[in-house]
Amino acid sequence: MNIKEEFRLALRELVYPVCVVSTYNDETKENHAITVSSVTSLSFEPPSILVCINKDSSIHSSLKKDSNFNISFLSSSQTEISNLCGTDELSDKRFDNDFWDFKNNIGFIKNSQSVISCTIKEITSHGSHSVFFGDVVEVIKNSNTKPLLYGKGEYLDI
Ligand SMILES: Cc1cc2nc3c(=O)[nH]c(=O)nc-3n(C[C@H](O)[C@H](O)[C@H](O)COP(=O)(O)O)c2cc1C
Repeated sequence: MNIKEEFRLALRELVYPVCVVSTYNDETKENHAITVSSVTSLSFEPPSILVCINKDSSIHSSLKKDSNFNISFLSSSQTEISNLCGTDELSDKRFDNDFWDFKNNIGFIKNSQSVISCTIKEITSHGSHSVFFGDVVEVIKNSNTKPLLYGKGEYLDI
């Protein structure tokens, strides 16, 4: 087995939160969204967070330095929107539903566990992905939900 496959199988054993990163492209006037698990809190001074996004994804070119994006941490019942934003073939249907609310043109998922709004301060490239470093500008917390988790190739509930 090669190192890439061993790495993939090791990561499959872990459990991840499921989030939707969304933004609005001021030039094209389009909304974009992608399902991600690679979200990590970075620091409290300043409050900041990072997310790793594949350069081939449709949202990638809209995430520019000093632009804003939202991270919606999904609730356990929100597998449908995770699939919509995580499946290439469904990209034209992502905003064609009732899951969204909008602030300053940028979408976020209603009733998600929390929504963290960020400004992109730094972008680093590594291989197939870019790492986006965001300073937190607003937090919406919904305390009455459980998180949606992903592990061993399926959604998990706790
Ligand atoms: C649970 C889950 C987690 C994912 N995590 C990431 C991630 O952290 N980064 C990433 O670039 N893609 C991730 N993906 C894959 C993208 O969501 C998927 O490839 C998406 O279709 C890409 O967007 P596009 O169709 O607009 O190009 C994940 C998918 C799922 C279902």
